[in-house]
Amino acid sequence: MTRAPLRPARLSIAADGVPRSLDFDDVYHSAAGALAQARHVFLGGNGLPQRWTGRRDFVVLETGFGLGRNFLATWAAWRADPQRCERLHYVAIEKHPPTREDLARVQQHSATAGADPALAEALQAAWPLPTPDAHSLDFEDGRVQLQLVFADVDEALRGLALQADAFYLDGFTPARNAAMWSPEVFARLGRLAASGATAATWSAARAVRDGLSAAGFEVERRPGFADKRDMTVARHAPRFVPPAPAAWRTRPAAGTPREALVIGAGLAGTACAWALARQGWRATVLDAEASPAGRTSGNPGGLMHPIFNAPDSLHARWFRAAALRCAALAAGPIARGEVAGRLDGFLRLEGRLEADTARARLEAVGLPQEFLHWCPSEAAAAATGLPLTQGGWWFGPGGWLSPRDWCGWLLDQAARRAGAQFHGRRRVARLAREPAGTPGRCWHALDAAGASLGRAPVLVLAAALDSPRLLAASPDCATFGGERLVLGAVRGQTTLLPAAAQAGGTVRAPRHALSGAGYALTLPDGRVLTGATSQHDDPDPALRPADHLENLRRAAALGLFGAAARALPAAALPAALGLDLERLEGRCGWRATTPDRLPLAGPLVDLAALQDARQARARLDALRQLPRSHDADGGLYLCTGLGSRGLSSAVLAAEVLASWITGTPCPVEAELRDALDPARLQHPAAGG
Ligand SMILES: Cc1cc2nc3c(=O)[nH]c(=O)nc-3n(C[C@H](O)[C@H](O)[C@H](O)COP(=O)(O)OP(=O)(O)OC[C@H]3O[C@@H](n4cnc5c(N)ncnc54)[C@H](O)[C@@H]3O)c2cc1C
Ligand SMILES: C[S@@+](CC[C@H](N)C(=O)[O-])C[C@H]1O[C@@H](n2cnc3c(N)ncnc32)[C@H](O)[C@@H]1O
Repeated sequence: MTRAPLRPARLSIAADGVPRSLDFDDVYHSAAGALAQARHVFLGGNGLPQRWTGRRDFVVLETGFGLGRNFLATWAAWRADPQRCERLHYVAIEKHPPTREDLARVQQHSATAGADPALAEALQAAWPLPTPDAHSLDFEDGRVQLQLVFADVDEALRGLALQADAFYLDGFTPARNAAMWSPEVFARLGRLAASGATAATWSAARAVRDGLSAAGFEVERRPGFADKRDMTVARHAPRFVPPAPAAWRTRPAAGTPREALVIGAGLAGTACAWALARQGWRATVLDAEASPAGRTSGNPGGLMHPIFNAPDSLHARWFRAAALRCAALAAGPIARGEVAGRLDGFLRLEGRLEADTARARLEAVGLPQEFLHWCPSEAAAAATGLPLTQGGWWFGPGGWLSPRDWCGWLLDQAARRAGAQFHGRRRVARLAREPAGTPGRCWHALDAAGASLGRAPVLVLAAALDSPRLLAASPDCATFGGERLVLGAVRGQTTLLPAAAQAGGTVRAPRHALSGAGYALTLPDGRVLTGATSQHDDPDPALRPADHLENLRRAAALGLFGAAARALPAAALPAALGLDLERLEGRCGWRATTPDRLPLAGPLVDLAALQDARQARARLDALRQLPRSHDADGGLYLCTGLGSRGLSSAVLAAEVLASWITGTPCPVEAELRDALDPARLQHPAAGG
């Protein structure tokens, strides 16, 4: 489903410091103080902070994030509470996000709001671009996880995959904004309620109480805040609880081990270790190579950028959300010099697109200018320093990253946060699971002699093209249909061009990464990485002069050797540039591609159990109803198929996977989670 273009909030601030919405003609909070209201109505009404005491994870879902005052109050309460839950997940829906400037303005003017300035500034600093996506923001080293869903409430609730412990209902007054309090909204909240969930709102309107009751909540009136006589609190106590869909794994019980074995230490595996550590899980990562990023992920540089098309396709939505997440996460490590890269703008040349058509497409989707704009040829040439004659898309949060550094950083963070460990030179030959009923039942990774290289209740297969092979080689995985996971193997070779000074000024190092027929990016030492070739089912591991020549041809088309070199035949380029094809540096690897060019992240379908379910005439028309490769003891999961965009996809795909494993809120809407679900390849008839 495509989302309507976002319109930022229009607000004014009254003399008493209370912000008012010009769209809804209503105040954002009581004149008696936003934080005091938050504490009385939303925290108090939901029994917080007491209810999160001793919990691993506690999930708040808010309708109407507004200026984030309730979030700041909840975060402050979490900080101040020595008994706080390990992780606070705060998911909030907002149709009209304020601008970062308005957030700052409100904080300055609103003396009565009184939010801790340090927390308010941290929120402003992390404030995302207003794109119609779910945006994850981490605070307190990831122990406070804010997910902002910029969409209309109805659509956002349909897309959420989570179990909420507390609901903050904070739309504007029902009299002026009935859409936030409709029976459909309440019914959806009921479906997202965890066992024992509570809800609170300052509203005591009849429609609110009736809506909550109809959705299975027991409703109570309580004294309201400031001049409000009453407010509403509620507890989810449905008469009938439908069985959870087969695919969903609820949050593992307190006390169960949070350990996973990850096979593969490329972008996929290291991102999984990081995403699991973010949720408090310890990963042991095994790889056949001596060090992380030993294979395809070992390039010194790669492009990282979203894609765009109109209408906003599933691909565009996935790669936008994924690239935004990667850019937000990588900004700090790049600035500190821990990871080589630059994510301050990327140019995608579009030779066949007219400027007017491009602008019309952009308008139809309505994305902010800082995220994407059309860049005419003169501006493109000026930005990159290349003699470009075409215009293109300029992606603000795009550029390049070193995959090698990125893998190392992700793994370091996973070690620091949750004790993740890496073991190199461990070639896994097959997987086996201890029999049902074994206490602390584990999966094992076995070597060729059958010795165990590692064990854990949860196993993540992130071994790129070897992933289906490992499934096929493992009798305990026979029921997971590894043979149906057909991945394409696309060989690719990059070429490293010497720095301009060494090449006698023949190579022009682009000031920003760009792509067209090929791509180019400038490494910190001045060399230009360019590529990449593409050959299906070609297992040759040797660097090939012919492939370097192909990369030179593409680089010439990008203008890397000046305008005159464009006219030269490819075969004349090496001599004209003084480059020896036999001695050029580069790297080759294999992209693991899926038929639909989206990653695979999730549990597998258990085909034997599916057969039984069919015979029992169970409902099987949606992916979430299919029986899977996980159960109460743990499970087996897949994270691969990153294709030619591993840098963009790895982190968010790993976070989707971590939400499957840990039962924490899914970081993307259900439609995108389904789009990544490996079940789509194993059982394409289901879902839809
Ligand atoms: C030439 C080229 C250029 C590219 N350019 C870009 C780019 O600009 N931007 C971008 O985003 N992406 C790019 N890509 C794609 C990107 O490199 C991949 O998407 C990414 O590296 C895939 O990561 P991975 O972890 O799935 O695979 P890998 O990096 O291959 O990691 C899999 C790991 O599993 C290990 N393994 C496999 N089998 C076993 C086993 N049996 N036991 C133990 N360990 C095992 C391997 O040793 C390996 O380390 C490019 C790819 C190529 C080939
Ligand atoms: C009272 S304000 C929320 C105040 C906020 N909780 C805070 O702590 O600052 C209500 C919010 O609901 C949002 N809203 C209104 N209608 C909406 C809808 N249909 N879907 C999503 N959000 C909506 C408004 O844009 C506004 O920001």
